[in-house]
Amino acid sequence: MGKRAVDAACASCHGENAAGQQGTAPPLTHKIYEPRLHADMAFVLAAQPGVGAHHWPFGDMPPVEGVTNADSATIVSYVRELQRENGIN
Ligand code: HEC
Repeated sequence: MGKRAVDAACASCHGENAAGQQGTAPPLTHKIYEPRLHADMAFVLAAQPGVGAHHWPFGDMPPVEGVTNADSATIVSYVRELQRENGIN
C-alpha cells in the first residue's frame, strides 16, 4: 500500500524507489532522512503543507493534494523499509 501511494504521489519528483531525481528532488533513502534526523512526522508534514527548500537546491516541495494521514502512515513504513534496504536506520 505504501509503495502504491509513493508511486502515485511522490515518485514523479522523488523518483523510482524514492531514489531521487537529478534536478528535481532528493532521494528519501538519503542518510539525512534516517529516523533519528527526520522523524515520521516529517513525512506527514511533507505532503501537507509541503516543505520549504532547506537541505537541497531543488526549490520548495509543494503540498501534495489528496494524501491523507492514513496514506502518510503507509508511506512512512514503505520509505523506512527502502531506507533499511539501503543501510539507513
Ligand atoms: C513536486 C515535487 C515533489 C513531490 C511530488 C514530492 N516531493 Fe518531497 N520534496 C521535494 C523537494 C524538492 C524536497 C527537498 C526540500 C529541501 O530542500 O529540503 C522534498 C523533501 C521531502 C522530505 C524532507 C522533509 C524535511 O523535513 O526535510 C520528505 C519527507 C518528502 N519530501 C516526502 C515526500 C512524500 C512522502 C511525497 C509524496 C506524498 C513527496 N515528498 C512528494 C519535492 C517533491
